[in-house]
Amino acid sequence: MADRIDGKAMARAMLAETTAAVADLEARGISPALAVVLVGADPASEVYVGRKVRECEKAGIRSIEHRLAADTEEDALIALIDEMNADGAIHGILIQLPLPAHINASRVLDRITPGKDVDGFHPVNVGRLSTGTGGLVPCTPLGIMKLLDSVIEDYRGLDAVVIGKSNIVGKPVAMLLLEREATVTVTHIETKGLPDIARKADIIVAAAGAPHLVRGYWVKEGAVVIDVGITRVTDHDGHTKIVGDCATHELEHARAVTPVPGGVGPMTIACLLANTVSAARATLE
Ligand code: GUN
Repeated sequence: MADRIDGKAMARAMLAETTAAVADLEARGISPALAVVLVGADPASEVYVGRKVRECEKAGIRSIEHRLAADTEEDALIALIDEMNADGAIHGILIQLPLPAHINASRVLDRITPGKDVDGFHPVNVGRLSTGTGGLVPCTPLGIMKLLDSVIEDYRGLDAVVIGKSNIVGKPVAMLLLEREATVTVTHIETKGLPDIARKADIIVAAAGAPHLVRGYWVKEGAVVIDVGITRVTDHDGHTKIVGDCATHELEHARAVTPVPGGVGPMTIACLLANTVSAARATLE
């Protein structure tokens, strides 16, 4: 029977470490602070932002919320970022995605000072990740590696298949796996023969946003499967639930799988707080 990797418990342990690290920084005169910007009222984004702010409070990180109208102009958002970049009391800046269509997201993200870019989306941090030279690492990929580290010691030569090529998950997690010397294949919507590719994998990271895409026959005996999908579906009775990218009930022959919810999600937030503490600590150096 496949082990369930308990992301909730791992996130709790990480948050306890972060809380201690915050207290240590406070003792050295630094109050870690995270600014979170939400433009518009996308319901899923509202939930995520609410969770991020709540977890900050629990860990003793000051959070500054900016909730802006959906018709906010790009230049107004840029001006706010400039202000936060210049504010020494703010250590992390997070712009919740997606942004409304009239805003050029890459211009906005590029404006954040790389040292405050706790999402790791700035080209400087992306470049650092791809050259293995430090920088802030995107939260979900970082959380995925911590989940994998709980069951895998040595990645060298393992076959890893990443399903989905997004900038937020697929590409950065591929870089992290490559850094550990796994042999990495990144697949996407146009990939041919995906089940056969997946079946060769020792590690599958499913980040396609396609409910129950990964079926039992796609997964090799003993593989480790990380399910990054979170899709809200409504059943025949009108009940909504969150489902992942993997048909988890068909994966009992895997070595370990992450549940949805309670796998990757809690780790993403724990890593965001850890990144905020890293960014605050870096101001001491
Ligand atoms: N929207 C979906 N995932 C993310 C994330 O990791 N960071 C931000 N800022 N927005 C998101």
